[in-house]
Amino acid sequence: MSVLITGATGFVGSRLLHHLLSQDDDTPVIVLGRDAPEVLLDRIRTAVGWLDVNGTVRPGAFGRLRCLRADLAGRGPFPDGAAPAGLTAVWHCAAATTLRGDPVPVHRVNVIGTRRVLELADRVPAAHLVHVSTAYVAGRRAHGVIRETDLCDAAGFHNAYEQSKFTAERMVLRWARDARRTVTVLRPSVLVDDRPAPEGLPRHPFAVLSRSVRATLDERAARASAAARPPGTALSQGALRFRLPGSPDGSLNLVQADWSVRAMVRAVAAHRGPGVLTVHVTHPDNTPVRAIARAFEAVHPGLSVEITPRIGDPTRLEAAMLGDFGFMTAYSAQHRAYDRTHLLACTGDLPDPRPLDGAYLERALAVPPPGRTAAGS
Ligand SMILES: NC(=O)c1ccc[n+]([C@@H]2O[C@H](COP(=O)([O-])OP(=O)(O)OC[C@H]3O[C@@H](n4cnc5c(N)ncnc54)[C@H](OP(=O)(O)O)[C@@H]3O)[C@@H](O)[C@H]2O)c1
Repeated sequence: MSVLITGATGFVGSRLLHHLLSQDDDTPVIVLGRDAPEVLLDRIRTAVGWLDVNGTVRPGAFGRLRCLRADLAGRGPFPDGAAPAGLTAVWHCAAATTLRGDPVPVHRVNVIGTRRVLELADRVPAAHLVHVSTAYVAGRRAHGVIRETDLCDAAGFHNAYEQSKFTAERMVLRWARDARRTVTVLRPSVLVDDRPAPEGLPRHPFAVLSRSVRATLDERAARASAAARPPGTALSQGALRFRLPGSPDGSLNLVQADWSVRAMVRAVAAHRGPGVLTVHVTHPDNTPVRAIARAFEAVHPGLSVEITPRIGDPTRLEAAMLGDFGFMTAYSAQHRAYDRTHLLACTGDLPDPRPLDGAYLERALAVPPPGRTAAGS
């Protein structure tokens, strides 16, 4: 018996791997990644080690890993040993997650790469395929309840990422039907974590934004002191006015990453197949964009955030934000909810995640001190 995971160095994959290595179980885990095996193992040790605050990873657990080099966007066959007889599960977490830029590499990893994972799964007919998709396959649908059984492109997409994930999910469903396979499709919304990751480890998008804001504030403070401000003079409140593109009464579905991993693992265990089970891994309540803005202000004294649908003349920071986080404009204007019927049915007695209050959001946006690394934290 063995299991395979792609994307184990990423935000989701490292958390899933931490869970697998915390089980009292000696099942070998094959890790496919695009680094050389020793680099891959090193990165995984760092990422999983950092997540292991409670010391749950079993002694010797890293010895269960067999790291193999495989670029999903490449053309060659996967290395020998990627699909051994006795493989029971394939967790496909790898993806190109950028929301901007050239759509071609995104398609290559998310669609063609997924097709290659299906070809690999063809070689192990008894393996359960877990395909990590996203709640954003719903694209531009702005209203109503998105059912876990919905997969429709009629409303279009905001970006190549959404479109590629939609196309990949549709391809997985077709494959499962034709090959009569057992497939769990997991659709998380936006995963967040209230333990800010140091340099070099994957972060959630709001943590990335929070670092940009901190860097800008630090730069302004340095410029101000170079301009001979009296020593000890603090920047006044509102020193950086930041316009966040979005709808002032909008909300986003954010969900705690640690809870989500527990829900995903339970959903997969509950789905015995054959056939496809699609599960929204979402919070029962959306988080108001205003609450996110207040948390930014609390974490960054000197910052004042205004939520506005349009920014006519963006500052450098706002322009960067519009590039990297422009999705928020559209997403926060959506008034849609996610059906959780399958999720609730297959996660048993797992309680719902806690409400995402201001204190949680502030921890999620905190920026670790400069120079702190995963190894030294
Ligand atoms: N994080 C979220 O909030 C969220 C929400 C909804 C859905 N999802 C889905 O969850 C999955 C994981 O996302 P994530 O947040 O963990 O993303 P991530 O942190 O960006 O990690 C992506 C992973 O994919 C790997 N990868 C990328 N291109 C590859 C290639 N060409 N060949 C092999 N591996 C490649 C990366 O390897 P390197 O480390 O070498 O780059 C990394 O391990 C994705 O399917 C995503 O769509 C995530």
